[in-house]
Amino acid sequence: MVRLDRVLDTLRRRPSSVSRQHETPADAEYAMHTARYPISTYSPFIKRHPWTDATRLEKIRLNTWFCLPEWIPLIGRVWDIPRVHAYKRFKDWSDQYGPIFSVNIFGINHVWLASDRIANDLLSRRAMKHSDRPSINQLADSKSEPEYLPLLGYNEHWRRQRKIVTQFMNTSSKAQFRNLPYLELPQMLSELIESPDDYELFMENYTGRVISRLSFGDPLHYDDIKRYSHGLLKAISPAAYVTNIIPQLKALPALLSPWKREERARHDEERVFFMRMHGTVSSKMAAGTAQPSYMKEVLDNQPKSGLSDMEAAYIVGMIGLAGVLTTSSTLMTYLLAMTLYPQWQTKVQEEIDRVCGDRMPNLDDSPQMPILRSVVMELIRWRPITPSSIPHETTEDDVYDGYFIPKGTYIHPNQWAITREASMYPDPEVFNPDRWLNPAYPTYKEPITKFPSIQNYTTFGYGRRICMGMDLVENEFFIAIGGMAWALNITKKRDAMGREIHVPQHEYSTYLISRPKKFAFELKPRSEKRKLQVADYWSAAIPLLDPPVANKIPSEE
Ligand code: HEM
Repeated sequence: MVRLDRVLDTLRRRPSSVSRQHETPADAEYAMHTARYPISTYSPFIKRHPWTDATRLEKIRLNTWFCLPEWIPLIGRVWDIPRVHAYKRFKDWSDQYGPIFSVNIFGINHVWLASDRIANDLLSRRAMKHSDRPSINQLADSKSEPEYLPLLGYNEHWRRQRKIVTQFMNTSSKAQFRNLPYLELPQMLSELIESPDDYELFMENYTGRVISRLSFGDPLHYDDIKRYSHGLLKAISPAAYVTNIIPQLKALPALLSPWKREERARHDEERVFFMRMHGTVSSKMAAGTAQPSYMKEVLDNQPKSGLSDMEAAYIVGMIGLAGVLTTSSTLMTYLLAMTLYPQWQTKVQEEIDRVCGDRMPNLDDSPQMPILRSVVMELIRWRPITPSSIPHETTEDDVYDGYFIPKGTYIHPNQWAITREASMYPDPEVFNPDRWLNPAYPTYKEPITKFPSIQNYTTFGYGRRICMGMDLVENEFFIAIGGMAWALNITKKRDAMGREIHVPQHEYSTYLISRPKKFAFELKPRSEKRKLQVADYWSAAIPLLDPPVANKIPSEE
């Protein structure tokens, strides 16, 4: 009889079940096999049946499976992966097994990384081998259909789309659109002052208006963008659809899979919207009334790029979807952090008053405002927006530091774990922007006029698949969080008896993009004067926004 503790010990000695490089052919076979079937279970769904090529470890498990009452906890190591917030369980396992380990789930080898250095080594330095994306089972064909750029395989469609997006996000649009987040902000501030309980709505509307203008030259499509972002987010989230966990379910006919029918409806509606926006912008261009936008740039270049209308519509539509829920999530986390750590609100307000006097901060203030930048930075470290990351897939066998990583492995740079690496982030659960401001911390970097900067931070991913929205995000966060600190005081709410209402630190949504669940707080303008100033900023922004997009700042007129 094989004892469970011995089996676990075997696994522990090979903390990565991504196996160590081997010295004898027998070891090699063992290594190959354990890499393929690490911490595995005999799921009926495993493609390659373990009986056909059982090796030592598999045999131990085979015996364990049939003979031991302890098999339940062993299986539990795999089946016990929670459907929600699984990244926390994977972090616990990396604390136990080390910063690189693998888990076999339904026949697929998943490698989880808990170290920024290892993630960079694999996903950036060896990008040639690790830049593909896993299939999203709930979608019809996320890797090959030229629709969702972030989900495309490492193929020609991806190359072409990435090049086009780089062009339209980096060239003329940058200068034209720089101040959009600033001009749109006073509306959100006014709305928050009027009705703080609806903060989720106002924050999504704000990021939706900004990305709607950028994508289509018009803010009015923010509601559609939000709807389709929520739809796509649900479709790709393991917590929403069991198909995203058990790939074999994809083979079921539509009749037996309600989720397939749901997906078809979602996808068809979204396609109609994207095509409608393509048509709308192209008609406006013909009439000479189109505002600058990503869609306009794509259409201007369509004859040269040779994109089909559908692909052109999807490239811009996808950017629209990528830009709304990601950014609003951190604005919500700001409210949570200020409720729990009010001392940082005071510090950032002191900096704003010192640098800006009475006015709202704008992008030119950035070099003089390290505290504001540190608050932003700490928000995305403390509560990463995609805590489980967007995985890469390996296209060629690789050996890293003695660990064998076979082709077809899904690699997850676990952001929850990486942003909590003990050597980099002392007391990682504490929201502490000082770790970016104080030379005593390992994360401090000079010059302080530039750092901290969110550019290339781990939460934006790695290598050739790194996020394409970092400039926009940096700009939007500085403006929106600076503006909120300038205009608003956030405090804990009190009940009828005057007692502070408890604020949960860890109640976050369960989909791939994570945001705090609704919580209670008090929001007031910093003063009556500030409230009036917010209204003035909003009135001043209207003529600059509608029509033409302007590269101007109202307070400087
Ligand atoms: C705070 C907000 C955001 C976060 C945390 C974030 C994070 C990420 C992450 C983790 C990835 C995957 C990187 C990898 O595979 O290694 C990604 C990819 C991507 N992001 Fe973002 N993102 C944000 C906002 C945005 C915005 C605003 C846009 C565009 C407007 C955008 C566009 C993209 C695109 C196009 C990709 C796909 C890149 C590729 O697969 O080649 N993101 N983002």
